[in-house]
Amino acid sequence: MQKRLFLLLFLALYCSSVKSQGMWIPSLIEKQNEKDMKALGLKLKADDIYAPAHPSIKDAICQFDGGCTGEMISSEGLLLTNHHCGFDAIQQLSSLENNYIENGYWAKDRSTELPAEGVTAMFVTRIEDVTLVALQGVTDGMAERERQSQIDKNIAGLKSATKKEKWEDIEVRPFYNGNQYYLFVTQTFKDVRFVGAPPSSIGKFGADTDNWVWPRHTGDFSIFRIYADKDNHPAAYSKDNKPYRPGHFLPISLDGVEEGDFSMVYGFPGATNEYLTEAAIRQTGEVLDPARVAIRDRALKVMDGFMRKDPAVKISYVARYASIANAWKKWLGEMQGMKTYKAYDKKAAYEAEFTARIQQNPDWNVRYKNLLPRLRQLYKDIEPYALGRDYYLETMVRNNEIMGTVSSLSGWINSYDPKNEAVFSDKLSRIKNSMAGFYKDYHPQVDEAVLAAMMEMYGENARAEWGAADVKYMAKDAGGYTALAKNLMEQSVFAQRSKFMDLLETQKPAEIANTLKNDLAFKLWEKLQGFYTGQIQSKLQELQPQINLLQRQYMAAQMEVFKEKRFFPDANSTLRLTYGKIRGFSPKDAVQYEFQTDLDGVMEKYIPGDYEFDVPQKLINLWKAKDYGQYATTDGRLPVACIGTNHTTGGNSGSPALDAHGNLIGLNFDRVWEGTMSDLNYDPAICRNIMVDARYILFIVDKFGGAGYLLNEMKLVKGKKKRKK
Ligand code: ARG
Ligand code: GLU
Repeated sequence: MQKRLFLLLFLALYCSSVKSQGMWIPSLIEKQNEKDMKALGLKLKADDIYAPAHPSIKDAICQFDGGCTGEMISSEGLLLTNHHCGFDAIQQLSSLENNYIENGYWAKDRSTELPAEGVTAMFVTRIEDVTLVALQGVTDGMAERERQSQIDKNIAGLKSATKKEKWEDIEVRPFYNGNQYYLFVTQTFKDVRFVGAPPSSIGKFGADTDNWVWPRHTGDFSIFRIYADKDNHPAAYSKDNKPYRPGHFLPISLDGVEEGDFSMVYGFPGATNEYLTEAAIRQTGEVLDPARVAIRDRALKVMDGFMRKDPAVKISYVARYASIANAWKKWLGEMQGMKTYKAYDKKAAYEAEFTARIQQNPDWNVRYKNLLPRLRQLYKDIEPYALGRDYYLETMVRNNEIMGTVSSLSGWINSYDPKNEAVFSDKLSRIKNSMAGFYKDYHPQVDEAVLAAMMEMYGENARAEWGAADVKYMAKDAGGYTALAKNLMEQSVFAQRSKFMDLLETQKPAEIANTLKNDLAFKLWEKLQGFYTGQIQSKLQELQPQINLLQRQYMAAQMEVFKEKRFFPDANSTLRLTYGKIRGFSPKDAVQYEFQTDLDGVMEKYIPGDYEFDVPQKLINLWKAKDYGQYATTDGRLPVACIGTNHTTGGNSGSPALDAHGNLIGLNFDRVWEGTMSDLNYDPAICRNIMVDARYILFIVDKFGGAGYLLNEMKLVKGKKKRKK
C-alpha cells in the first residue's frame, strides 16, 4: 500500500511537471497547446504562430547555418542570432588588421555588410503529417531492414508527389522514435551577410567559466542580413541581390519581463531523449557521462595549464578548449542533476505504473509485457560496448589532435591505390589546405602532453582486450606514458608541420602514402581502430537496432497506456515551439536565484585585462554615467539576461524568446547547468533556459555600438504589457 502511494505521488509530480515541458510541433499547437498556453497568459491565436497559408510568426524563424536558430527583426531581412552562432562566420571574415571577434563590427550601410560565405538560413513553408503514407505497407512482423526500405520507398514517392516551388526543398523526418512521420517544405537562403556584433568582451563575456552558468552576463548576439533575388527567392550571392522581405518579422518589446510572465521560444532544438527507460538514462548518468567527464577533465586541465602560461597558446586553443569544455560541462550537470533530482526514481515509478496498467488489460499485457524487461537486458548487454566506444573516441579521436588528425585523414591515406592514383591525388590540394589551417593553431608541446594523458586514460581504464593492454605495454616499454608520447611525437610526421607539408609538396603520391602508412601515429591508430571496428562497433551495430526497435514500440505503448498524458516528440532539429514562464529557481538548499541580471553584475565580475572577464572602456563609461536611455528598467537598472522554464536544448541557440503578444523579449543562448539533464528528464524545479534581454541587445547596438540607425528598420513596441503592481 505504502509503495503504491509513493508511486502515485511520484506520478502526480511527474504529470504536474509536464505543464511547461515540451517542444511542440507548430502545426499542431491549436489542437495540443492553445488552451494551455492561453491559461498561462498567451494573447495570440494558434494561427498567429503557425499558418501554412498566410503570414505568421513562423515566417520570421529560420535555422541559422545548420545548427542554430535565427529570426527576422526587420522587413528588410535583418537577422538576429547568437554571437556564438555567428562566431565561425565572424572569425572567417576577420584578419589581424580587422579583428571583428576582438573589436566587434557595425556595418555603416548596406555596402559595408560583409558576405558570409557558406552561411545559410532555412525557413519552413509548411508542415504536414504524412504518417499514413510513410508507413504504408509496413507490418508488425517485418524485419527492421525490410521495414526501413519500405519506408524509404514511401518517402521517395511522397517527395515526388508533393507540390513545391522550384526554390523549395522537401524533407520527411521520423517523430516519436519512428512511429510518426512529418513532411517539411522549406526554403534555404544562401546569400547571408554579416551586419554587426559586439566585441567578444561583451558577446562572449565570461567565456568558459560562465558557460552554462547562472547568474549570467553575456551579450551573446550578432546580426546578419539575408539577401534574395529580385523575386524575393533564395539565390547564390550576387551584388544585385536585394534584402529579403520576410512574411513576418518580430517586433521588439521595450517593456521587459517580470517574474511569472508568459514566454515562448520558437526554434530548431537538436536532440532530446525524454522517453527512455530508467536503465537507459542510468547508463548515461552513471556510466557514460562519468567516463567522458573524467577523460575531458584530464585533457582540459592539460590545455588550461599551457594556455595560462603562454598567450600565443591561449589564442590558438581558445575555440578548441571552448568546444571540448562545452560538452564536458553539460555532461557534468546532467549526471549530477539526475542524481540530485532523483531522475532514476521518477523513471522507475513511471515504469512501475506502466507495468501495473498493462497488467490490468489483457491485450496490452500480451503485447507489452516483455518490452521493459527486454530493454533492461539489452542495455546491460550494450553497456561495455557503449563505454568502449566512448573511451576510444574520447581519448583517441576527439580530445587529442594528432590521433584525431590521423583518424580524419585515414580514409584518404588508405584510399591510395597504385593502379588508380587519381582517387588519392585528387584530394591532395584540399588536404594541403586543411592541414595548413590545422598547423596554424597547432602547438605540438600541448598536444604531446594531452596525448600522454589520453593514452594513460585508455591504457589504464579501457578493456585490456580492446587494445588497452597494447597501449599499456607500449608505455611500459618506453618508460611511461610521457615518454611514449614524446617518442611518438618525435617520430611522427603528422606532428611536424614542415616535414608533413614538405612531404605533400615534394613527393609523389606513392611515396606520400607509403610514408604516412608507416608512420608511428598511423600504426597506433590502425591497431586501436582495428579493435574498435572489430570488437566494439560490430557489437553496437548488432545491439543498437534491437534497442531502437523496442524503443519505438515502447514509445507507442506509452502513448497508448498513458492516454491522459500529452506527449511531445523528442527534438530532432525540426521547428518547435516551447513555452513557460520567466522564473528564478533554487539550485540547492537555502540558495535562491533571481530571474534577471543587470549591468551592475557585469561590473561586479569585471577583471581588468582578463580574457574572460574584461569589459570595454566604453561600456564602463556608459555604466558610470547610467546612460541607459530607453532601455533602463523603471528603477534605473540595465537588464542583461533572464531565465525561464522554457524547455530548450542545443540548436535553440539564437531562438527568439517571445512574450504573450509575440514580441521579442530576449534571445535564447544557454541553459543552467544544474538543469542540463532536461535532455533526458525535464524538471521544472531546476531546468531553466537563459536569454539575453532584448533591451540589452538594443542598448549595445545603439548606445555602445553607435549603430542606432539599425533600429530605424526595427519595430520597437512599448506599453503592450499591463504592469503588475
Ligand atoms: N553552452 C552554450 C551551448 O551549448 C554556449 C556554447 C558556446 N559558448 C562557450 N563558452 N563555449 O552551446
Ligand atoms: N548553447 C546552446 C546552443 O548552441 C543552447 C543551450 C542548450 O543546449 O540549451 O544551441
